[in-house]
Amino acid sequence: MRLKSTERAPDEQKRNFLKIMGTLIIGVGMVGTLRSVVQYIIPPSTQAETSFPVLTLVLANGNPIHTSDLIVNNSATVTFDYPLQGEPNFLLRLGDSGNTDVKIPPSKVSIPSTGGSYQSPGGVGPYGSVVAASAICEHLGCVPPEIKFFPPSSSTTPGKIHCSCHGSTYDPYSGFSVVTGPTRIPLPSLVLSYDSTQDTYAATMMVGPTLYGHTSDLSGGNAITTKGTVVSTT
Ligand code: FES
Repeated sequence: MRLKSTERAPDEQKRNFLKIMGTLIIGVGMVGTLRSVVQYIIPPSTQAETSFPVLTLVLANGNPIHTSDLIVNNSATVTFDYPLQGEPNFLLRLGDSGNTDVKIPPSKVSIPSTGGSYQSPGGVGPYGSVVAASAICEHLGCVPPEIKFFPPSSSTTPGKIHCSCHGSTYDPYSGFSVVTGPTRIPLPSLVLSYDSTQDTYAATMMVGPTLYGHTSDLSGGNAITTKGTVVSTT
């Protein structure tokens, strides 16, 4: 039996409605796929810094670290991120072979790759023995645990930072300068400030070569959005 035109109308409307919905769903799916492809080709922009942040060094519980939290010649690796997220730095309280604090003076650090030089900041804290520098090897970018500090009492590379990836060695007692290659670039130093009234520490800026893998220390990553940067021990 043929349906009257007035009886077909609801079915046609339903078909048209389903067609439109189908087209919309396919369209939304294509937009989503296209967005994924574009984001793959052009990564989402990241929030960079425009100037070096001043960040208090804090424990995992958010409390500022004090000198007594730092072990002289600690054989464990103590790091914190700076100036951007995911960029580890060594935090060292340096001592002699008897584990007595050693005052680290500012020093002229040579850059073998360029023939240039710069002034390292020296140590801070009550004994002038606390220093920090990038923990990203300037040769090809290895990070802890491949690159680590060996205390003066160690049988291998005593008092040096050694990278096991290809054997580069740096001297934290003289501005994290190059001791042995293949690296031809020192580890960039951090300028720390020390508040003697509170016995607290803060990271304020970096000096020396640009961080490995970056065209600038303040781009190529995400800013640390908290007022402190967490010090962790591994
Ligand atoms: S990455 Fe450290 S020595 Fe090569």
